[in-house]
Amino acid sequence: MTTSEHIDLMSAQSRVTAYATYADLRAQSPISRVRMPTGQDVWMVTGYDECVDILGDYTRFKTTPTVLPEGVEMPALPEAVVRLLGGAMGSIDPPEHTRQRRLVQSAFTPAFVEGMRPGVRAIAEALVDELLAEPVREVDLVERFAVPLPQTVMSRMLGIPEADRDRFRLWADLLLSLDPTSAQSAPQGMSPEQVMAEIEQFVGYLEALVAAKRADPGDDLVSGMATAEADGERMTDDELLKMVALLVVGGLGTTQHLIGNMFFALFTHPDQLALLRERPELVDQAVEEVLRFHGSIEISFPRFAAEDVVIAGTPVSRGEMVIAVLAAADRDPARFPDPDTLDVTRTRNRHLAFGRGAHMCLGAPLARVEGQEALAVLLRRLPELRPAVDLSEVTWRPGLTLRGVAELPVAY
Ligand code: HEM
Repeated sequence: MTTSEHIDLMSAQSRVTAYATYADLRAQSPISRVRMPTGQDVWMVTGYDECVDILGDYTRFKTTPTVLPEGVEMPALPEAVVRLLGGAMGSIDPPEHTRQRRLVQSAFTPAFVEGMRPGVRAIAEALVDELLAEPVREVDLVERFAVPLPQTVMSRMLGIPEADRDRFRLWADLLLSLDPTSAQSAPQGMSPEQVMAEIEQFVGYLEALVAAKRADPGDDLVSGMATAEADGERMTDDELLKMVALLVVGGLGTTQHLIGNMFFALFTHPDQLALLRERPELVDQAVEEVLRFHGSIEISFPRFAAEDVVIAGTPVSRGEMVIAVLAAADRDPARFPDPDTLDVTRTRNRHLAFGRGAHMCLGAPLARVEGQEALAVLLRRLPELRPAVDLSEVTWRPGLTLRGVAELPVAY
């Protein structure tokens, strides 16, 4: 097995060519050795069935390495980041993961999320009211709709007071900018020291929020998680703080990109947009198809082989890092007929955009509600919505973890 070097998977430009790159890799084998820009060699899994097997097998593929290959070190993270996200649910394994997941799920139930639908719709309607009040009907849909919708939904869901929402937004942006595989620079030209000072303030803010919700619970999710019980246990303050940080990190950029990617995909497939306008009952199916076609998470969190294993005939040694490339799995022709065609009427669409297995996205029901309401409201209220630039000029955010259009100028 040779290692593929010089494959550009990180630049903004590579988002356009990535599907062809994955198809080339998959044609050779559903698992390939790839050298990352950091110099680290990882296993990239591009076949659908193989990704399902890995994500579903948490005894052989762990999110925490039990042993690291020689010469490989885990990067040290700043203290405030460890305080916020170290040992958070996304990076721990069962049985501890199961305990935390059960606790959060007993508050973040499907009924809780469905109860948010009218509020999500009202937020989308209010954002469209603002667009319609513009003297010139041309805006960036990402900045004016895809970013504020999930931010407002998230602040309300967590019970962040109105007065704190701008700071909360800044902290959320900063947290997202810390993801080393997303290569997003710190917002507003802040220095790394300023970023860390803000993150420390965020820790303090969340500590106070958690204490306030414990003392005087409301009908928000933080209060729900603070009082949730499973098997006679409750979340500790520290777990609660980390869970809130994880929801912020996991739930904002992803949903923003779902909305941006959705309109990019529909604009590049005008026949599908026209079909959807004729048959709005296809909205839910269209959201699933966009998740498959341009899902906002390109790769899974890293997994580490807990023992020597063989994947599709290829031996993988204990401790080696394995990445399930969700964007590749969702374009695997062995699973999806005509995988490179956007088809909003597609059925049997068991895509991997939300992952699979123990770590399958906790926020998937909420992301779906936001995507469905955003699409339905924009289609209904802005019948003339169209791109305001040549779509080949639209750029993607750099980095491998998140896939999303950086901006989407529209007219309406
Ligand atoms: C379109 C939007 C979204 C996409 C595509 C997405 C995708 C994913 C994926 C692929 C994973 C699993 C990664 C892995 O197994 O390695 C995941 C996990 C997670 N997601 Fe999402 N997500 C979205 C929205 C959200 C939202 C809105 C929230 C919270 C409100 C959220 C919270 C989480 C959490 C907490 C985890 C970790 C679950 C665990 O480890 O048990 N996500 N997401």
